[in-house]
Amino acid sequence: MSSNAPIHSVLTEDRVFPPPADFAARMHGTVHVPDMDAYRAMHERSIRDPEGFWGDVAKGFRWFRPWDRVLEWNLPDAKWFVGGTTNACFNAVDRQVEDGHGDEVAILWEGEPMGAAGPEVRRITYRELRDEVARCAAALEELGVRKGDVVTIYMGMVPELAVAVLACARLGAPHSVIFGGFAPQAIVDRVQDADSKVIVTCDGGWRRGSVVPLKANVDAACERLPEVRHVLVLRRTGGEVAMKPGRDVWWHDAVAKQGTGRACEPVDAEHPLFLLYTSGSTGKPKGIVHTTGGYMVFTAATAHWTFNLVPGQGQVYFCTADIGWITGHSYILYGILPNRVPTLMYEGAPNFPAEDRFWSIVARHRVTHFYTAPTAIRSFMRWGDAHPARHDLTSLRVLGTVGEPINPEAWIWYHERIGGGRCPIVDTMWQTETGGHVITPLPGCTPTVPGSCTLPMFGVDAAVVDEHGKELPANAGGLLVIRKPWPAMLRGIRGDRQRFIDTYWSRVPGMYLAGDGARRDQRGCFWIMGRIDDVLNVSGHRLGTAEVESSLVGSKLVVEAAVVGMPHEIKGTGIAAFCVLHPDQAANAGEDLRRRLAEHVAKDIGAIARPDVIRFTNGLPKTRSGKIMRRLLRDIAAGKETTQDTTTLEDFGVLAKLRETDE
Ligand code: WT7
Repeated sequence: MSSNAPIHSVLTEDRVFPPPADFAARMHGTVHVPDMDAYRAMHERSIRDPEGFWGDVAKGFRWFRPWDRVLEWNLPDAKWFVGGTTNACFNAVDRQVEDGHGDEVAILWEGEPMGAAGPEVRRITYRELRDEVARCAAALEELGVRKGDVVTIYMGMVPELAVAVLACARLGAPHSVIFGGFAPQAIVDRVQDADSKVIVTCDGGWRRGSVVPLKANVDAACERLPEVRHVLVLRRTGGEVAMKPGRDVWWHDAVAKQGTGRACEPVDAEHPLFLLYTSGSTGKPKGIVHTTGGYMVFTAATAHWTFNLVPGQGQVYFCTADIGWITGHSYILYGILPNRVPTLMYEGAPNFPAEDRFWSIVARHRVTHFYTAPTAIRSFMRWGDAHPARHDLTSLRVLGTVGEPINPEAWIWYHERIGGGRCPIVDTMWQTETGGHVITPLPGCTPTVPGSCTLPMFGVDAAVVDEHGKELPANAGGLLVIRKPWPAMLRGIRGDRQRFIDTYWSRVPGMYLAGDGARRDQRGCFWIMGRIDDVLNVSGHRLGTAEVESSLVGSKLVVEAAVVGMPHEIKGTGIAAFCVLHPDQAANAGEDLRRRLAEHVAKDIGAIARPDVIRFTNGLPKTRSGKIMRRLLRDIAAGKETTQDTTTLEDFGVLAKLRETDE
């Protein structure tokens, strides 16, 4: 950020939603953090005495050998539960069987295709999951996988994806899951970077009624990957695939024949559990490294607090993310399974066969916890209220969002149309690098304000600071940092120590730099203003792109907007807004509507925020994880030919369309 004096953020929102009075009753009388006094006391202790706090939490898990020391901190290297050995698969699965819960449902899975008799549904108990994971682990061993070897997983959202992930954890073989929407080149880059010799995949995956050719993509990648020794292939769609003799083996041959005796390998608490590639501010994806003990404890504990999970009470938890992203790793699998609440995995698209698919899932499975992304919520809004209204959503108790700041319009819609006005919304702020929630409300405890992720998680010393690490006063925009290590903090970027140091530990000395701009309001609640490079400096004033977007959407003329900076002769940075018009307005696209929108923003926020350029588009370019590709929009706004890697575009047609409408 520049040295310009910060201005007060203008995304103001005064509606405070206290925890619903009947929440405890709806939670069978159990609210883990019952009120703000309890929150404050726990948070204060967790920061003052992290070793005591996390040591107590970690006692609730199974360790093969106890730790000698809870934390060893040599900036920027944290080691948690030093000297302890454990296994993340054991704590997620085997332990439940040992404790007598083997017959409870661990994974509730629904396939995408809709037959005449409805979709395919599988209810996998902890015992069944344990046995299949043990068989898969034995099969991987037979294919040469040993402790420490990286296994690449490129599959659709089928139960066997969870099985493969947990089988790797069982062996102490770090997994590297690649989202099934990525193209072959992404597989090549990641397999090479990870030095991985075994890939697990499917013949194909169902997505919006079509088959994604997963195996063919792996084959294409493998032409450039002579080092890959084996590909384990699950049959899912039944399409024809080529099987290369000696290299490729079918899951139903290799796994089914194994016994269930393969036990969990005791691994050091700091043994790498997985790699997950994510994009940084430069082109090459970075392999974020997470280790076993701290990640295991933090994800399960945060899931327990943030969602108020209570086992044995009929709760059903549904996170709509893909396991190919950190959200799926932490809050479909590792964080949820130890909590003994069924985790619902859905295979396909939210709009197949119709736009009400999620609501039909919620109603049929009596889902109590629903966790999704703001971009999805905006799609639901666009598809119309009739879809949720058709279904019985009264089972819902807690709603969650993650991935980007949520605009208040979407928050309110979610609250009313999905939550029936009675479900707390947890706006969870975190990152691939943080492993789990770092700033979030706790349901039944934290008063919420639409658009704010509210308060820090236990053990997270979050702050908004200037370049020198000095904490800023209320409402001043600055850099989001975390001043102390927390258990699921990334341990590095694979093979790139310097990038790890440069990206997270250099700009503000001594603190973890999240890469987001933020402010804290007078109540201490955090407001994320977007990635640092998304914070605009217009005529020397700081402005969050999210704020302008929120205003545009608030006009009701626009359903979705993306705002980026563009070079401007006088202001330094001007504002370009890409807008998807409300269907009712589509026919009015033109100068007059542009003027009305610019006026609206100027009125809503101030003249400083008046967009310089407004462009209408049918859709915004997004990554597969639903993030708007701002760098691309910045290039388009600047009239530059883009040189960015576009392999993660959701829809290339969207980009082409933007180009066509250039005037
Ligand atoms: C970035 C991390 C963590 C899983 C999904 C994204 C943004 C994430 C929020 C939120 C405002 C959010 C931040 C962060 N972000 N959650 N609740 N409110 N912004 O993981 O791909 O690693 O992205 O997403 O900018 O830095 P990711």
